Amino acid sequence: MKWSVVLLAIFGFSECLHRIPLYKGKSAREALKEKGLLEEFMKNHPYNPSIKFNPALAKITNEPLTNDYDLDYYGIISIGTPPQFFKVIFDTGSSNLWVPSIYCKSIACANHTKFNPAQSSTFRSTSQDISIEYGTGAMSGILGYDTVTIGSIVDTNQMFGLSEDEPGSTFYYAEFDGILGLAYPSISASDATPVFDNMMNKGLITQDLFSFYLSRNSETGSIVTFGGIDPAYYTGNIQWIPVTSEDYWQITVQTIKINGKVVACESGCAAIVDTGTSALVGDPSSINNIMSLVGIHMDQNGQYSVNCNNIGSMPDVTFVINGAEFPLPASAYITQTSFDCTSGFDPTGDDGWILGDVFIREWYTIFDRANNMVGLAKAV
Ligand SMILES: *[C@@H]1O[C@H](CO)[C@@H](O)[C@H](O)[C@H]1NC(C)=O
Repeated sequence: MKWSVVLLAIFGFSECLHRIPLYKGKSAREALKEKGLLEEFMKNHPYNPSIKFNPALAKITNEPLTNDYDLDYYGIISIGTPPQFFKVIFDTGSSNLWVPSIYCKSIACANHTKFNPAQSSTFRSTSQDISIEYGTGAMSGILGYDTVTIGSIVDTNQMFGLSEDEPGSTFYYAEFDGILGLAYPSISASDATPVFDNMMNKGLITQDLFSFYLSRNSETGSIVTFGGIDPAYYTGNIQWIPVTSEDYWQITVQTIKINGKVVACESGCAAIVDTGTSALVGDPSSINNIMSLVGIHMDQNGQYSVNCNNIGSMPDVTFVINGAEFPLPASAYITQTSFDCTSGFDPTGDDGWILGDVFIREWYTIFDRANNMVGLAKAV
């Protein structure tokens, strides 16, 4: 899936905040249990004595992510007092937080958890609208403020979208409820301050960065660490790469090589590092060239057909970035299931390259807002 923002329609209205009457609430545990999420939450937040950080000293939080068939990675956050729990994609390709709301009548909202502002004592409404179009899917709704909790981080007065419309079927079929954008404020719809900007501004984290480890083959163990870098998830050195445009997490790929020979991006190309995109996306001619060089051809339906028997002999596709080489072996760019093999390359990137989950699974990725750098290290 592609959760990076493709277009922003921004409607600004004067703010008008009212308070919703206090709700006498259930405990977080009761609320979770009611939503059937407690089991999943406990499974994902086990007591872990090997944890690297001292939570009493450092404001670092490890947010476990559920790997949904290597296509999406979502975690559980809460919004409101008492907390209402939501599954969200932590998306570095967009900048807004939104969840379904009780105002939404779309079919996508029928089978997802909906935020009810009347049941949160800390909710404040606004009269501002929000509308976001993603690479796949779209939403529109209204903006409000409430307390957002991610792991041990409590972000008060966080602006977020309450969906009123989620057109089409994209979000209907999604396991997750909403999206939490982690890109720069410049691409935030309605100029809503992103969650991570509030974490930085309020000093809620030890370091102004967050790091992703995405597991392979639908395995458990994926994690996003807010405020720190966890050495348990990578080996070797971290290579630091400057962000070239502070909107998406955009960097420059110098060249792409196979067997030492340049095969794409001859004079460099812009790429965004996007946890919310499943594939590795590039322009059609580059991707077709790469595919034919690794021995993958398109079938009559315009799909790349991969012979599983050839994976062992397929070469690495190597991204040269800031002078360092980041190879992707066939095991990373081919997804093998019990019945077929598919390519992790997607030739629909007319606006530039997207280093999505196919890339991030292989390279532990640090998104450093303090220095506007992306750090890459070999994932374990
Ligand atoms: C919503 O319903 C569709 C169709 O039955 C299903 O594929 C999808 O998994 C459901 N979503 C959730 C979160 O239950």
